[in-house]
Amino acid sequence: MAIYLLTGAGSGIGAALATVLHERGDELVLLARSGERAEELSSRYPGARALVADLAEADAVAGLAADLPARLDGVVHSAGVVELGDVEGQDLGAWRHTLEVNLLAPVALTRVALPALRAGAGRVVLVNSGQGLGAAPGWASYAASKHGLKAFADSLRQEEKAHGVQVISVYPGRTATPMQEQVHAHEGAPYDARAWTRPESVAATIVHALDIGADAALTDITVRPGR
Ligand SMILES: NC(=O)c1ccc[n+]([C@@H]2O[C@H](COP(=O)([O-])OP(=O)(O)OC[C@H]3O[C@@H](n4cnc5c(N)ncnc54)[C@H](OP(=O)(O)O)[C@@H]3O)[C@@H](O)[C@H]2O)c1
Repeated sequence: MAIYLLTGAGSGIGAALATVLHERGDELVLLARSGERAEELSSRYPGARALVADLAEADAVAGLAADLPARLDGVVHSAGVVELGDVEGQDLGAWRHTLEVNLLAPVALTRVALPALRAGAGRVVLVNSGQGLGAAPGWASYAASKHGLKAFADSLRQEEKAHGVQVISVYPGRTATPMQEQVHAHEGAPYDARAWTRPESVAATIVHALDIGADAALTDITVRPGR
């Protein structure tokens, strides 16, 4: 049975992925931001183990080392935040929070999981964004965090090849999740979930990246809205 560590399993893309993996019987270790969220995840995914760490405090993630399994088939970093604002107006607090959750926390969590990933010849999947490949006005802090995440992935992929660990960046375009509703609210645009990629479709892409044989190394996958 495969064992996966997931962040962001409570919502959106992460929840769609956790649902698929849970339904097919994979073992799940889910990282929740609080004890209350951990209880919710444990009841939503019976048999899954929930660990608590607020990813806005990336240093706290190092303390999870003793709680991780000895072997992991994969770590999927789906948790993320977005705070839109132009460079002139956005304060550094928003930048720090975004960089902490979207960049430093995946780095810290990957580091503590590396021994287990090496033991399982596992995969690291980083849920990036189209904003990790090009930055739009009003998106600087988020795009910077995702560009950084791409750089992290590209270095890690080469470093870990010899250990049998693969690293995959997935770049979704707009996807129908609570985060996208938040973006629309900021943009003052009406939200219609049907216009955007379903989180289940992004999750299916990630499952493919987790499942494909070790003869193939997927590295960067873009998923854009089909309509
Ligand atoms: N939706 C899009 O259009 C889109 C497009 C491109 C890329 N992405 C990326 O896809 C990923 C998933 O986004 P989504 O759309 O599924 O967003 P979402 O529905 O808002 O879910 C975000 C998840 O991140 C978790 N999270 C946020 N801050 C956290 C913290 N401090 N500690 C622990 N967990 C935290 C949330 O936990 P709680 O459940 O406790 O709130 C939630 O489970 C993100 O990395 C995002 O940048 C999304």
